[in-house]
Amino acid sequence: MQIVFGIDFGTTNSALSVYKDGSVQVIAVDDAAGSGELMRSVLYFSEEQEIFTGNEAIRHYVGDEAAGRFMQSIKTFLPNTSFDSTEVFGRRYTIDDLVAIILRKLKARGEAHVGCSVESVVLGRPVLFSTDAAKDAVAQQRLERAARKAGFKNIWFQFEPVAAALAFEETLQPGQERIVFIGDFGGGTSDFSVIRVKGGDFGRSDRRSDVLSMGGVYVAGDKFDSQIMWDKVAHHFGRHARYKSMGKEEWASLPRSIIYTLCQWHRIPLLRARKIREQIRVIKATTDNRQALERLENIISDNYGFFLFQAIEKAKCELSQAEQSRITFTERDLCISEELGREEFETINSQNFSQISDCIDEVVTRSGIPAAQMDTVFLTGGTSRIPLIQSLFATRFGRDKLENRDAFTSVVHGLGSSVPLFV
Ligand SMILES: Nc1ncnc2c1ncn2[C@@H]1O[C@H](COP(=O)(O)OP(=O)(O)OP(=O)(O)O)[C@@H](O)[C@H]1O
Ligand SMILES: [Mg+2]
Repeated sequence: MQIVFGIDFGTTNSALSVYKDGSVQVIAVDDAAGSGELMRSVLYFSEEQEIFTGNEAIRHYVGDEAAGRFMQSIKTFLPNTSFDSTEVFGRRYTIDDLVAIILRKLKARGEAHVGCSVESVVLGRPVLFSTDAAKDAVAQQRLERAARKAGFKNIWFQFEPVAAALAFEETLQPGQERIVFIGDFGGGTSDFSVIRVKGGDFGRSDRRSDVLSMGGVYVAGDKFDSQIMWDKVAHHFGRHARYKSMGKEEWASLPRSIIYTLCQWHRIPLLRARKIREQIRVIKATTDNRQALERLENIISDNYGFFLFQAIEKAKCELSQAEQSRITFTERDLCISEELGREEFETINSQNFSQISDCIDEVVTRSGIPAAQMDTVFLTGGTSRIPLIQSLFATRFGRDKLENRDAFTSVVHGLGSSVPLFV
């Protein structure tokens, strides 16, 4: 009897499925509130060199008052060839070492569930890690190396939207055939594919000929959060502050690169570089908004960006249900309370939405099948809950074709369903 795991290593969340005796089950991997089917793809290194993952990592990070090192969105670094490793409390970790920690944890949870060791895995991968083919290859190699380090010996890759399609296929009646547009909207990437699915086809040997087209963009949940930070929150940290550079009379604005980095929360620690801190110190001496510059120094030194972004993300998610929400966050003398409306959210993100929209059109065109002739649109991933994302599809395909379920587990389920294609 062969047991194979399916692992969806996501930018925000990871999950695991078990393929056994021809059936697939998604199992709990975190002790979080709720079903525990998802593990946050985060790591925390305590000063005592202990390493934690998922909710445990968040708990320790909070409990230690951020004394250790916290990491998230690790997946987005996979194609980044200028980032190879990082030092944490005197030990060097390559990117695949970091990913391996998460994969090892998922593997251990899965093995505890099935009661034996498992050496085979189908790993999900986005359609595009990078538009640069060389970087894309590097990303997959790193992911594969991470899986080996985690103890897997047989490793296969499946495209995330194809996995979602296979999960959808299982809900069809035997013989029912459909042309489906799959949209997987996650934290880091939005991935699309047009694929032919057929009920009862579970385990057919090669599906490549059924994939009519694929595509993706790096615009997803994280980008929306960054944009909210830029437009609604960054002014608390000096986005509009001015200063007089040495010996000059006219006012200058803060370097855009600093604010830009501030808006990508996982990059905030880069602002700890001595040169940048010195630059901020000099600006602070002549600025018209000293308080904002002090806050900027605080967020860099205290590293509370994670919590600030959680507040932003919360407001964003609320807008999927409500017309209005509010970003609220307090830390020392900083007290943020910014109203955010759904329309405003859509307006400030209009460029992001149009990139997504263009990519959808491209993938439809490349499939050779007009939108009107596609049977179903299957949307998955946390970001697919955004109403405007759903409208993008409703206007092209008709609202009655939209299927929206299992936002967080259809990819991992489909990775499990992919096993017979490889084994
Ligand atoms: N109700 C909601 N409304 C809007 N966005 C949401 C909602 N719930 C979750 N999200 C967003 O969904 C994203 C996480 O989704 P998901 O778990 O599918 O991503 P992922 O698989 O980790 O990422 P990727 O597939 O890009 O690697 C986060 O950006 C989160 O803010
Ligand atoms: Mg995903």
